[in-house]
Amino acid sequence: MENSNIMDKITQKLKKHLKIENFPHVTKNGKWQTTRDGYWSGGFWIGILWWMHVHTGDDLFKNEAIKWLKRLEKRKTSRTFDLGFIFYPSFILGYKITKDEQLKKVALEAADTLLTTFNPHLNVIYDEMVQENQKVGKVLIDIMPNLKLLWWAFKETGNTKYYDIANLHAQRTIKELIRSDGSTYQGFIFDLKSNAIIKKVTFQGINTESCWSRGQAWAILGFAMASEYTKNEEYLSVTKKLARYYLKHLPLDNKVPYYDFDVKPNPNEIRDTSAAAIASAGLLNVYRITKEEYYKEQAHEIIQSLYMNYFNDEMKDGFLSDGCFYLQKDWGVKESMIWGDYFFIESLIQLIYSNQKSIKNLF
Ligand code: GLY
Repeated sequence: MENSNIMDKITQKLKKHLKIENFPHVTKNGKWQTTRDGYWSGGFWIGILWWMHVHTGDDLFKNEAIKWLKRLEKRKTSRTFDLGFIFYPSFILGYKITKDEQLKKVALEAADTLLTTFNPHLNVIYDEMVQENQKVGKVLIDIMPNLKLLWWAFKETGNTKYYDIANLHAQRTIKELIRSDGSTYQGFIFDLKSNAIIKKVTFQGINTESCWSRGQAWAILGFAMASEYTKNEEYLSVTKKLARYYLKHLPLDNKVPYYDFDVKPNPNEIRDTSAAAIASAGLLNVYRITKEEYYKEQAHEIIQSLYMNYFNDEMKDGFLSDGCFYLQKDWGVKESMIWGDYFFIESLIQLIYSNQKSIKNLF
């Protein structure tokens, strides 16, 4: 189906699904499970509303987005590495669309909070967690796309504190979390007193040495963003290497990966459509940088595969079925994920408007 026709279907469905009390996160039995404060994913709901406003020109979506922004603003002081996910699809995209300086101000405050999560001994942004009764630092591959908040803050203010910390974090991520074959670890934990790295870890993959497919997709997207903002050739070459691994290890029957690249291939194995949507957005980011048609074609095939195999009917909330949030905890398995829907829509917008400068500037 034409990408613009898919967007028409999305528009019609979303108009009927706007009445929701809290932030959608993942579905359970096809119905949104919501969070009051937006958890780490609330920004993506607002991002969907912004893209729908851009696509349709309908102020209904813009007014909804503004309403939800008010609820998310207080998160600007949350000490978490997820601040990029929370603030760039919501406040930064909103600022780019509306030029409302207040949105920029809030996003910059969030960027300042993100800086406070930096550890200058290991040169990483991190969160704290409890592991075996001990408080430790946690660094994940998922942090890479969160750096967009810092790259953007540097571009807006010229203040190198944002650039330097994002750059140090990206460099350390290459060293610790990317393997020589282009696959990724999910993360590592470290001792908060000595700053010694304790071990590599996975939370959502099969095992530490495997390659969790959404982590690989976050890495493609995160390094593509780093490359776009810094123009550093190393980041582009890392992105291409990550993308090569990702594309080479897709199943043969369609373009949606199993939740981990190390599962035994079997058409009934659990997949992750959200990983596919994120990877597609990352590949389109590479296309924006390089103009190499290959990346756009791959993204187009992924989006078509998602639509043909996993587009939900009217009965279910969310657009894409068969995401996998957290198999080990049985959270959001074979369900819709708000970030999967977001990157599906963001990719469609990029594919439809790839030659329109005013829309390209929104990324
Ligand atoms: N924490 C982000 C993810 O689960 O992908």
